[in-house]
Amino acid sequence: MNDFIPVFEPLLNGNEKKYLDDCIESGWLGSNGPYVKKLEKDFSDFCGQKYGSCVTNGSAAIDVTLRAMKELYKWEDNSEVIIPSFNIISAAQSCIYNNLKPVFVDAEPITWNIDTKRIEEVITNKTKAIIVVHIYGLPSDLNPIIEIAKKYNLKIIEDAAQAHGQTYNGKKCGSFSDAATFSFFTNKHISCGEGGIVLTSDEELLNKINYFKNLCFSNEKFIHTNLGWNLRMSNLQAAVACAQLEKINKTIEIKKRIGAKYQELLKDIPAKLSCPKTSYAQNHYWIFGIVINDDVKINAKTARQKLLSKNIETRPFFYPMHKQPIFEKLEILDNTERPVSEKLYEKGFYIPTGLNLTDEKLEYITTQIKNLF
Ligand SMILES: Cc1ncc(COP(=O)(O)O)c(C=O)c1O
Repeated sequence: MNDFIPVFEPLLNGNEKKYLDDCIESGWLGSNGPYVKKLEKDFSDFCGQKYGSCVTNGSAAIDVTLRAMKELYKWEDNSEVIIPSFNIISAAQSCIYNNLKPVFVDAEPITWNIDTKRIEEVITNKTKAIIVVHIYGLPSDLNPIIEIAKKYNLKIIEDAAQAHGQTYNGKKCGSFSDAATFSFFTNKHISCGEGGIVLTSDEELLNKINYFKNLCFSNEKFIHTNLGWNLRMSNLQAAVACAQLEKINKTIEIKKRIGAKYQELLKDIPAKLSCPKTSYAQNHYWIFGIVINDDVKINAKTARQKLLSKNIETRPFFYPMHKQPIFEKLEILDNTERPVSEKLYEKGFYIPTGLNLTDEKLEYITTQIKNLF
């Protein structure tokens, strides 16, 4: 049997070590170090927004963005924010921490992104923003979302945690919104273990974000008129992320090669695979997903167990937000059905796309997947 194949492995073969040595030799460890500034400049330039603000992780990036928007735009408590139900909990919990109400929209069955046709149904006079999440490395269809946002005067936040360097109609994801948030967690296209960034072209919003992420220090040090958090990123983390940003195109190339290979080798299994392309983008395969057909008796959980017994690590798909026990307890859910997200969870899982994956391992993984059926 093959050695254990993790679902993801990073490649640290660029300037990561050199930049870390530089931090240690120069003594710049904290958040006021030069790599933090460099990452903010280089990553916002790369994505096409004016400003960046580094934070501790991608969840914190959403927390502080919503907090800053709520204050700046004077949103009342219980204002509503539209979010895809097929998503990680970060955006929804950020809403709740900020006394905003998350409103969940079902996924679209081919791309697994928010179903843009269902967004207008949930808009009320309390709706203030849409958080667009580019799920699993394929962009959401932004043009209809931008139209809706204009029509109802809503802010757009792009959660591009899974879409560094991805484009929509040739323009970078993260550049279409009032603010875009990214994660630099280990399995992301750019990683420094933990980390995140908010991008915006609005200087006032940037200043608010910087204020809330830094304990709400005022001009007079240690005098505070508000409560925030310490969400500052260290120079050490930023050093690694800067090195990773330098080779993002290579990382994307590797991911696309793995994705294309899986598409070819798994084309005959009774399952839907990650959507390879749409009219506006090609998949970057942040992950490669498999959704087993309805008429096949096996569900994702069993398939994953069987693959683990063959030393292949996988991950479940997102458990829909509208089914989360914590949100039931908080009584923020309604009875609307969102069957696509539910089916994706029941039948979907994702397989290894580590940056060190060899063709031999890809062959092994796909053979074991075919054996499931
Ligand atoms: C879409 C999305 N948003 C937010 C996050 C949260 O990022 P972090 O783990 O850095 O807090 C993730 C993490 O995987 C994510 O995939």
